[in-house]
Amino acid sequence: MKILVTGAAGFIGSHVARRLAGLGHEVVAVDDFSNGRAENVDPRAEFIEFDLADPAVADVLPKDVEIICHLAGQASGENSFYDPIGDLDANAASTLNLIRFGIHVNARRLIFSSSLSCYGDIGGKTAVESMTCRPRSCYAVSKLAAEAYLRVFSDRLPFVIFRLANVYGPGQNLENIRQGMISIYLVQALQTGRVQVKGALDRYRDFVEVGNVAEAFSAAVDTDRANGHTMNLALGEPTTVLQILEALKTEIPDMTWFVKGSTPGDVRGMKADAGRLKDILGFECTTRIEDGIGPFVDWARKQLSDTGTVDP
Ligand SMILES: NC(=O)c1ccc[n+]([C@@H]2O[C@H](COP(=O)([O-])OP(=O)(O)OC[C@H]3O[C@@H](n4cnc5c(N)ncnc54)[C@H](O)[C@@H]3O)[C@@H](O)[C@H]2O)c1
Repeated sequence: MKILVTGAAGFIGSHVARRLAGLGHEVVAVDDFSNGRAENVDPRAEFIEFDLADPAVADVLPKDVEIICHLAGQASGENSFYDPIGDLDANAASTLNLIRFGIHVNARRLIFSSSLSCYGDIGGKTAVESMTCRPRSCYAVSKLAAEAYLRVFSDRLPFVIFRLANVYGPGQNLENIRQGMISIYLVQALQTGRVQVKGALDRYRDFVEVGNVAEAFSAAVDTDRANGHTMNLALGEPTTVLQILEALKTEIPDMTWFVKGSTPGDVRGMKADAGRLKDILGFECTTRIEDGIGPFVDWARKQLSDTGTVDP
């Protein structure tokens, strides 16, 4: 099948493109390099450098694309406050342009990477898809707007919406100190041996390993069973800060940690119900932090020795 993967030079998109190319699909990769890297693009893919916020999408992308995996976007909630218009363009306008392209070429479906942040502050409750979304960042607003556009045009272009939990794993940007609790701790542990935890150790999040995310996209490529559905793409279990640190310590035995300071706006806990993903797509994320951390640490060690240190 010919599959368009947007954001294919980024963290998650590169895993999705690699998995689909490995399964023998013909992958067309798109990215504007606003945050991606050329070395992330799978060499088996046809690559097109393009800003999807530009409405001329149909002039540059191939017309025989069957499925669109849409992972391009501005991925940071914090950055969305610094540049809300840029965020709107990268997340909502880009999706609208892609929808129009998908309709134009009669694509079979568009599979979208939305976010659990659409739910907003749900006060420690488990995020369930039937909840009303009350976004609390510009990022979450633009993701929810993109979802809404998909629903508006669903009679002409079927969609699958995945609301992703916190994704971690090889390929994650180690230089971004504003995003990725696990990657931030990992860089500190490898470089200084001392991890500063800003906030309580019993805070928890739903963490999903990037390989599981790529598998879920691939599952949604293979079937139309999930068409028209919005599903949390999450482990469905809480992972505490302490569990992360203990998992890291099994790989980096000399590391220590200390609790100091806090992160403004941080919530105590966030986890999602992953039941709909299993019921509709028949897919479950199975990689727990104890299993996912080893390959991530190995990759980060190599990355840091190749590129030198980054500011933790
Ligand atoms: N990483 C997470 O934990 C997480 C959680 C929830 C949702 N998501 C979503 O998943 C997607 C992928 O996230 P990621 O962590 O891989 O981020 P990333 O920044 O590594 O990858 C996104 C890619 O999209 C590209 N891009 C951005 N705007 C573009 C545009 N207008 N046109 C073409 N390319 C553009 C960037 O250059 C980058 O390579 C994003 O849409 C993000 O919002 C990520």
